[in-house]
Amino acid sequence: MELLPSTEQNNLTRQFHTSQQLIAELETRLTQVTAQLLAAKANLASESADHQRTEDEFRRSTEQLRELSARLQSVREEERTRIARAIHDELGQTLTGLKMDVAWLQSHLEPQQPALLAKTQAMSDLIDTTVQMVRRISTELRPGILDLGLVATIEWQLQEFQTRTGIESKFSSDSEETILDDDGSTVVFRILQEILTNVVRHAQATQVVVTLEETATFLTLQVRDNGRGMTESEIHSPKSIGLLGMQERARLRAGEVHFHGTPGQETTVTVRLPLDGGNK
Ligand SMILES: Nc1ncnc2c1ncn2[C@@H]1O[C@H](COP(=O)(O)OP(=O)(O)OP(=O)(O)O)[C@@H](O)[C@H]1O
Ligand SMILES: [Mg+2]
Repeated sequence: MELLPSTEQNNLTRQFHTSQQLIAELETRLTQVTAQLLAAKANLASESADHQRTEDEFRRSTEQLRELSARLQSVREEERTRIARAIHDELGQTLTGLKMDVAWLQSHLEPQQPALLAKTQAMSDLIDTTVQMVRRISTELRPGILDLGLVATIEWQLQEFQTRTGIESKFSSDSEETILDDDGSTVVFRILQEILTNVVRHAQATQVVVTLEETATFLTLQVRDNGRGMTESEIHSPKSIGLLGMQERARLRAGEVHFHGTPGQETTVTVRLPLDGGNK
């Protein structure tokens, strides 16, 4: 039994074929697009892996640089300690020996040899001056932070700074001694020296005020000078290697250094170090 006339049936069959062909074409196209998408996805994944790798490498080399910098600092400190000790002990002993010999000579001279007596006295005075010089050089190389403690060392440094530069230097500390360890104290002291060098070189100041405060967790050193004031661009300039060096030194102990300047009025540098060395 025929439901449709044959022409109608032929039409339908043709249409069915055409749509079958279209579906087949679509399927092929879809397979192609899927393949392309998969390839793109694989590409993206490898690019992202590359990116991750670069980032990891960057982080690793930054970390290595930081460790190297820490190592260099501590080698420098060790070297300074060694030289300071050698100068102090060896030169010091030789000079003491020399002084005793001159004293012996003096005691064996007759009063009627005034020229020789005067000469030996001059030698003795010269030896005293040299002893002082040796002490000063070795202390500058490595102030006796270990023997004196940080507070006393800062006091000594400011006294010396005032005498040398004529810049009035005031110091106040809320305690006689800090609980910061020797390594941390050396970091604070070296940063203070950098700050003071900058004051002489750039500030045109007549006064510096230094304060040291210690809470249960932090030690804060603040140095204010009444000079021309550090500018924002100097603070943020990558050329300010000295300022970056101070920050880097502090960072080695999980600390930080902040700079603030008011043009024509003052510069304040604040150093903050955790008392546990940033380890706990
Ligand atoms: N106390 C200050 N008062 C005013 N300007 C300052 C002070 N300290 C630093 N500056 C300015 O900030 C700049 C950067 O200081 P930084 O210590 O980095 O470099 P520097 O002292 O010029 O050179 P370096 O310390 O490397 O020998 C200085 O060149 C100076 O212009
Ligand atoms: Mg400097």
